[in-house]
Amino acid sequence: MLEHLQPLPADKILALVAAFREDPRDDKIDLGVGVYKDASGNTPVMRAVKEAERRILADQTTKAYTGLAGDPAYGAAMRDLVLADSVASERVAAVATPGGTGAIRQALELIRMAAPDATVWLSNPTWPNHPSIIKYLGMKMAEYTYFDSATREVDFAGMMADLDQIAAGDVVLLHGCCHNPTGANLTADQMAQVITLMQNKGAVPLIDIAYQGFGDGLDEDAKITRQIASAFDNCLIAASCSKNFGIYRERTGILMAVAKDSAQQGLAQQTLAYLNRQNYSFPPDHGARVVTTILTDPELRADWEAELEETRMGMLVLRQQLADELKRLTNSDRFDFLAHHRGMFSRLGTTPELVEKLRAEHGIYMVGDSRMNIAGLNAQTVPILAKAIVAAGV
Ligand code: LMR
Repeated sequence: MLEHLQPLPADKILALVAAFREDPRDDKIDLGVGVYKDASGNTPVMRAVKEAERRILADQTTKAYTGLAGDPAYGAAMRDLVLADSVASERVAAVATPGGTGAIRQALELIRMAAPDATVWLSNPTWPNHPSIIKYLGMKMAEYTYFDSATREVDFAGMMADLDQIAAGDVVLLHGCCHNPTGANLTADQMAQVITLMQNKGAVPLIDIAYQGFGDGLDEDAKITRQIASAFDNCLIAASCSKNFGIYRERTGILMAVAKDSAQQGLAQQTLAYLNRQNYSFPPDHGARVVTTILTDPELRADWEAELEETRMGMLVLRQQLADELKRLTNSDRFDFLAHHRGMFSRLGTTPELVEKLRAEHGIYMVGDSRMNIAGLNAQTVPILAKAIVAAGV
């Protein structure tokens, strides 16, 4: 049987993790996978997470199964974090999932069940696992223009022209904030135009929000998601706690389906629970319990928000330092986009050849499409990167 397997293409982000590990150079710089690193290069366990884990260890009396949708308290806490009061809770079906990827996968499976002929529209570019999962599930997909490689900002005219082609019932995948991989985001006015267009077309939004709190703040980053949830009869929201709680390996995510009314919500809830049962039965609980403990305890929540804010501000400082250093070295403002971008990533907008040159000659690892993880930098490595970017002729 196994002889019939075909070699599969490597995931380009994860392949980079392996290549970085194997590089013997001491001064190598990892700007690949989207993992936050502090100034000493560590990915710390957040203070509130440590405390929540301590409490769980002390107080937990059972490891018996939760429910197929996960602990209802987690669903409620996450609904509040992501959606606040933008939509009545009776309209929201939710299931805990293994990470944000699990939520995306379940969202796509739900779409495949409810609308097998729908095309899922993805930004070009998007997180590579989006098209990979869609292809694996055998679903229809199409791309809409998103990034202007000359300005390194959103090509809004191109995006609107492409979205004008969508058919009623098609699904449009949007990044809730901190676009991955580009770091370029729509303005509020542009987003309002996208919403109107999608409404006119009868599209269903699918929002991937994996970086809430990494861009402009917890509430600000959820604005688009909340706006969409309140503007459509139906939308799907895949949220991840990997980054904003720093619990990457705990696999903590949630899929929320906003339904038209409570009857439709009941059907969506039953279907989501069914999908969990088919794929892995009960979703992981530890990370979800940590998140619930933090979000429902005012003191822990305040500490978590404070540490997340420090993280966010740290990334903004690094963005500005890099933009300033490149301005100084090139005597031009062509890298100013780095300071405008938000979230963990910025797409430098250079060729795979120059990305390879940066790796081979300078030990700087970024994804082949020139996506850099800004959180992989620190005050010492910013000038090194800037110098290498200029030396490589980017
Ligand atoms: C990334 O884009 O680097 C992260 O979301 C990690 C991953 O799973 O790809």
